[in-house]
Amino acid sequence: MKQICVIGVGYVGLVTAACFADLGNRVYALDIDEKRIAKLKQGIMPIYEPGLKELVERNMRAGRLFFTTSYAEGLAGTEFVFIAVGTPSGANGEADLRYVEAAAKAIAQNMTAPLIIINKSTVPIGTGDLVAEMVKQAQPRPIPFSVVSCPEFLREGSAISDFMNPYRTVIGSLDREAAEKVAQLHLPLRAPIVITDLRTAEMIKYASNAFLATKISFINEIADICEALGADVKEVAAGMGYDKRIGPYFLDAGIGWGGSCFPKDVLALIYMAEQNHVQPHLLRAVTKVNYDRRHAVVERLAEMLGGLQGKVIGLLGLAFKENTDDMRDAPSLTVVQGLLERGARVRGYDPVAQETARPLMPQVEMFDDPYQMAEGCDALIVVTPWNEFKHLDLARIKQLLKTPVLFDARNIYNPQEVRSLGFKYRAIGRGFNGG
Ligand code: UDX
Ligand code: UDX
Repeated sequence: MKQICVIGVGYVGLVTAACFADLGNRVYALDIDEKRIAKLKQGIMPIYEPGLKELVERNMRAGRLFFTTSYAEGLAGTEFVFIAVGTPSGANGEADLRYVEAAAKAIAQNMTAPLIIINKSTVPIGTGDLVAEMVKQAQPRPIPFSVVSCPEFLREGSAISDFMNPYRTVIGSLDREAAEKVAQLHLPLRAPIVITDLRTAEMIKYASNAFLATKISFINEIADICEALGADVKEVAAGMGYDKRIGPYFLDAGIGWGGSCFPKDVLALIYMAEQNHVQPHLLRAVTKVNYDRRHAVVERLAEMLGGLQGKVIGLLGLAFKENTDDMRDAPSLTVVQGLLERGARVRGYDPVAQETARPLMPQVEMFDDPYQMAEGCDALIVVTPWNEFKHLDLARIKQLLKTPVLFDARNIYNPQEVRSLGFKYRAIGRGFNGG
């Protein structure tokens, strides 16, 4: 059993803390947000993540997981401290490091014994060195410490399983002994462990996310070509995926990527390249292809309906992906804006993201039930591929709609089946199936 402190109980920090506790460690989860911590102590989760509430409660009951706002309490007796605070985008796409810096200073001022400080947040290349310098400067008296990078690769919606079954653990440090100790912590996960230097570890995270974003933008561009030429992108992706050099994952064409990571990480990588006189041609195109998708959804729907003025449009799903309540850079935000600009009235339904979405789209009328939302709509758009949408009673939906128009911007339905019900149906990149 090791003692760990995790700073930041957001999407990444809370999952990290609960999972390390479940592996048998004693974990203090620390956050400056007193309300969050007070609620967590009562078993109320600040975010929606499948399985998280049960995991947190089990480990609190077992006396392995504690919540605090006090650095003095969180760091007492701790050997490892993970920084998992947010790193949002700044005005020019650069990562905003103010929260990481605040955490580094607070650690420096409150540590009483040697520590291994581990960056879990996605931070620009060179931040590990910066954190080391900041801690050194802010310490009231010198106490030895090491800085290690151990980036997270957790997908929202499957974060617990991603933590427990990682493809690999990446550990970066110039201090080999510290890196080995962090490796020991991760041994129960039985995944390959890559030990490298700090900057390389930081870069592995950016390069991985940028590659996955590139893969999605690539298949989206292929989807448009498929649609124009009469091929079906779903079958193209399946056919490509058997080739192990390509792999079957992250080839779902649709409305493009959003969320708290891909958008800000690709932007930050572009920014770092430009600052260092490298032209990131590919990454710029990957971003452009992605954001054009969102506008294209609105334009294509306008084509289907012969204009959007006065039309009532229902959005099936608002979160940036399924199984989360996260609205950060969700494609729905751009779609809503585009629809409103063209004079449409917009309705929304999401199984869990409704409350996070409401303040971000006050003009949208929210419904607690997809059937109620459909009643009187001129069209529905599938924006988030929640499982429950795959099982909707489409015959009933058709009866409720004013005009039976369905734009499946996530390719979740079988085009023939939907059309046979009498829908005017459009998907993404499914030319052979009438796209
Ligand atoms: C994380 C990572 O940090 C980010 O780099 C990664 O790419 C995506 O995931 P996330 O967990 O999504 O961020 O952030 P968020 O849900 O905003 O949670 C951050 C938490 O840190 C909040 O609860 C906030 O109150 C807390 N915080 C912030 C601190 O405890 N101390 C601070 O100084 C600042
Ligand atoms: C991502 C990384 O996958 C994860 O390793 C970590 O670094 C955090 O960032 P996350 O953003 O939570 O995870 O979800 P992910 O499943 O990667 O989806 C990202 C976006 O791409 C979503 O908007 C999703 O809908 C979209 N997507 C994903 C597609 O459009 N097509 C795909 O084939 C896969």
